[in-house]
Amino acid sequence: MCGIVGFTGRREASPVLLEGLRRLEYRGYDSAGLVTSTGNELHLRKKAGRLAELRKHVAAHPAPGCHGISHTRWATHGGATDRNAHPHTSTAGDIALVHNGVIENYAALKQQLQAAGTQFRSDTDTEVLCHLVAHYYQGDLIGAVQKALALVKGTYGIAVMAKGEPGLIVGARLGSPLVVGIGTDGTYLASDANALAGFADKVVYLSDRQICALTETEWEVRDHDLAPASVSVQDIGAFLGDGDSDKGDFPHYMLKEIYEQPDALANAMRGRLDSADSTAHFGGLNLGAQQLRQIDRVIMTACGTSYHAALVGEYLFEELARVPVEVEYASEFRYRNPPIDRNTVVLALTQSGETADTLAALRESKRMGHTTLAICNAVGSSIAREADGGVYLHAGPEIGVASTKAFTSQVCVLTMLALYLGRTRHLSSIQGQHVIDDLRALPDAVRKALECHDRVKEVAARYAGATNVLYLGRQYLYPLALEGALKLKEISYIHAEGYPAAEMKHGPIALVDENTPSVFLVPRGNVFDKVMSNMQEIKARGGPVIAVASAGDRDVVSVADDVIAVPDVPEYLQPVVAAVPLQLLAYEIALSRGCDVDKPRNLAKSVTVE
Ligand code: M6R
Repeated sequence: MCGIVGFTGRREASPVLLEGLRRLEYRGYDSAGLVTSTGNELHLRKKAGRLAELRKHVAAHPAPGCHGISHTRWATHGGATDRNAHPHTSTAGDIALVHNGVIENYAALKQQLQAAGTQFRSDTDTEVLCHLVAHYYQGDLIGAVQKALALVKGTYGIAVMAKGEPGLIVGARLGSPLVVGIGTDGTYLASDANALAGFADKVVYLSDRQICALTETEWEVRDHDLAPASVSVQDIGAFLGDGDSDKGDFPHYMLKEIYEQPDALANAMRGRLDSADSTAHFGGLNLGAQQLRQIDRVIMTACGTSYHAALVGEYLFEELARVPVEVEYASEFRYRNPPIDRNTVVLALTQSGETADTLAALRESKRMGHTTLAICNAVGSSIAREADGGVYLHAGPEIGVASTKAFTSQVCVLTMLALYLGRTRHLSSIQGQHVIDDLRALPDAVRKALECHDRVKEVAARYAGATNVLYLGRQYLYPLALEGALKLKEISYIHAEGYPAAEMKHGPIALVDENTPSVFLVPRGNVFDKVMSNMQEIKARGGPVIAVASAGDRDVVSVADDVIAVPDVPEYLQPVVAAVPLQLLAYEIALSRGCDVDKPRNLAKSVTVE
């Protein structure tokens, strides 16, 4: 959360900073700011609200100079106000600093600084760090930053400038990503390489506790004790999202990403399905056939939508590979001490590859000596780099805060992994080939599912005024019920709950009345009759029912108030196809309620704080 961009070079800094922030706005969008330097002066501009507010402010009050740092904020400490926006400056105005992460011991440090006479001008944890750097600063910025960071507990990605050293930017990271960019007209710093596309040619990813110093023509990275660090310089191209991150003709990124799903699925499968051996192959798993055969348990860990994909993965691995799976929220798993034996693999799922809890869970598993794998979308992200092996989604950049194509691509990759593991065990080549055939047909099935959009608009118009919605499904569609509810609540602010359809009798059915619609996931399959009975139970209590059902299913039409048809696919792929109407329903309802679909309130795309 929060995005940092810095530039020092031979062109005006503020256009570079504003463009970089635009690309990082997914990391936080409640306020933004920048500081530039000319000669011996710092020019500070910051504004609460979206980046557009800062743009207007800078247009009216230009920030001159070829060196600067900037920030887009997702508030942790202190509300979204001008004064809490970054950069923060020292009392004398000689140090400016931007920060991602959380300074956990900020209260104690603040007390000490206040006792020594420092006046605070914001409610942030970050301001503490700025005053600490100023306290140690005697003409050597990197030394002052190192001393200040030695006192800090928590996580940080920072960029700092000193009035007395124009042209110098110092950065450091612990738990929040930071990448140095090297270009022909200067050097850069950012929390995501995508901010530097078209500016820098090469990048250097900082590791935790490293500190970097950038000038117009030079850069260096040092370890926490300021000894030179060994780093690798890589082409930026390898780390840029594969795909176009413009909205094209779509009014929102979310809608574009929903419609990209057939292509995203094809990309996730490209070169990975092997009909000759009726299996799948992955370049980056880094596991030999023998190690694979020995896996006797998988722990999947993730947050949010990725957690829901993992829950689908549990059903897939158990059915196709007969490997027991446990799925755990990363935020819980990181603090547990579960017995994990030698042949357990920990699999982290994440779109961004930067989610703080997922990263911490992965690190804790590695520390205990377990093999860690990741299913990840963002190339070069912290989790992609730190896992022992992994599989990229190749879904292209996902910009809308509500995850859509990453979810369906994750389920697709999990299906291929289950096939791969299954083929080292009991799954026959004929069964394996069936799975391959089903997967190959999936992009077209999703394309067909998208044809429900007009029907979804009608349904959305009827239910946009609801204040509570239940989402109900069973087996493979139970995790999708959770995901459908999450989509609706995060972008429309309607309270929604996902439940196993039969479990609702044990409590949530008390919520049902004529104003509480239930969305039933009821395509044809093994538990169809059971779900139909659950639907009747809701109808009997006067609850309106919206059903996502197999095209042409007359039984469902006779019971449900509104039916949205999806094409038939095997049960284990239903979460992918049935995700489409749920994504569209959330989108259309949010739209009709006037919500900001791509940037819902209080959220950020990448959750890099605990
Ligand atoms: O990048 P990750 O997949 O690790 O992100 C996990 C969650 O933060 C994310 O899925 C979040 O729940 C989305 N807003 C859901 O749409």
